[in-house]
Amino acid sequence: MTGILTASSVGKSYGTGTARMAIIDGLELSIAKGEFVSLVGPSGCGKTTLLMCLSGLLTPSVGEVRFKGQTVSAPPIGLSVVFQDYSRSLLPWKTNLDNVLFGMRRLSMAAADKKARAAEIIAAVGLSGFENHHPWQVSGGMQQRVAIARGIASQSELLLLDEPLAAVDAQTRADMQDLLLDLAKRFNQTCVLVTHDVEEAVYMADRVLVLGPRPTRVVREIVVDLPKPRDQIATREAPAFLHARHEVMALIRGMRAGQNLS
Ligand SMILES: Nc1ncnc2c1ncn2[C@@H]1O[C@H](COP(=O)(O)OP(=O)(O)O)[C@@H](O)[C@H]1O
Ligand SMILES: [Mg+2]
Repeated sequence: MTGILTASSVGKSYGTGTARMAIIDGLELSIAKGEFVSLVGPSGCGKTTLLMCLSGLLTPSVGEVRFKGQTVSAPPIGLSVVFQDYSRSLLPWKTNLDNVLFGMRRLSMAAADKKARAAEIIAAVGLSGFENHHPWQVSGGMQQRVAIARGIASQSELLLLDEPLAAVDAQTRADMQDLLLDLAKRFNQTCVLVTHDVEEAVYMADRVLVLGPRPTRVVREIVVDLPKPRDQIATREAPAFLHARHEVMALIRGMRAGQNLS
């Protein structure tokens, strides 16, 4: 398989012996450079576990993840993760600017260049003027923007996002969706977005990969044939959007019905 990120026959289980629980089994995926791919699946199916395996924060029990052709065994440079829980992923004793600079600590770049890049990215996420605030002095949506800025600043090519917008209010969420799409384009980020929100998955993506129940694998690929830039009103009314949403929702509802019976 080619692609900036690939997973081949990936399996992951937690525990041993009778306590062993299989979370992922026989998972295959390939993400092309420049793509925006959503991973959607029922709650508890193993989405976060999968993202951890893709990022090198966890090692698969079997199979292999490759980033730019290299086997991933620890988080590689060029790959960033944005977590759902921004309040725990930012360092509260550092300012927003220092949090972004922290993301660049592994880069060999002059301090002045780092500062210039951090400032550019902070401006791009709409946080100019808040560089010297601490994360706890700004809103939840703004904290998540700091976390996204930190991810991009680390010379990221691939952003892995684990339900990054789940904790922000609905209006902020729509704005953040558009901001993420804009940032992905502007900073040439390949993006893998994990979400349990079917509409968000379709709205954001070039391709939606639907994950099955635990132990999870990719059960369906849906190509989202909608023009870009996306628009919160027009895109969500387009027949292709409704079609894709229907297909994903029917699959996920079917899985939940199947689980309830067992
Ligand atoms: N470190 C761990 N040890 C044991 N079980 C875990 C661990 N992390 C997650 N799990 C279990 O694995 C399953 C999948 O979890 P997770 O990957 O967080 O799913 P999702 O993100 O799709 O909700 C859940 O049943 C969860 O309880
Ligand atoms: Mg999760």
